[in-house]
Amino acid sequence: MSQRTLVLLKPDTVGRGLVGEVLGRFEAKGLRIVAMDLRTIDGELADQHYAEHVDKAFYPPLRDFVTSGPLVALVLEGDEAIEVVRALNGATDGRKAAPGTIRGDLSLSNRENLVHGSDSEESASREIKIWFPDLP
Ligand code: RTP
Ligand code: MG
Repeated sequence: MSQRTLVLLKPDTVGRGLVGEVLGRFEAKGLRIVAMDLRTIDGELADQHYAEHVDKAFYPPLRDFVTSGPLVALVLEGDEAIEVVRALNGATDGRKAAPGTIRGDLSLSNRENLVHGSDSEESASREIKIWFPDLP
């Protein structure tokens, strides 16, 4: 079943010069890029995107992090794209993520973990509307 998912290459990916490396993994897997944009977001967009987390203790530093510099937002499409992207990303904590995953290979942090991927069809649809409201 073809799906779309919202992916973020967070500011650590851009800052560390890993956009090509990370994007290359998604492309090599066979996912298609249907929208892509480099942008720096404000706290309001961060709050919308992370609505489920805004009241959590880890949110204030997360908000500072995702608004700290440019990130790449993209929509990827392909068979079971939501689950496939989550598997490629690996566990949230880069220190515990399995080798072979993006976070497992490239991140040593629970916060600066390089990527975001929608966690369900409902989240994907909500997030794609937030980031790319004009995408057909
Ligand atoms: P994401 O939403 O970014 O794809 O990551 P995820 O589903 O694996 O993790 P989630 O629980 O949704 O958390 C969102 C992001 O918040 C940061 N975080 N920090 N305890 C902490 O310090 C903590 N826990 C989570 C991470 O950047 C995580 O990706
Ligand atoms: Mg999440």
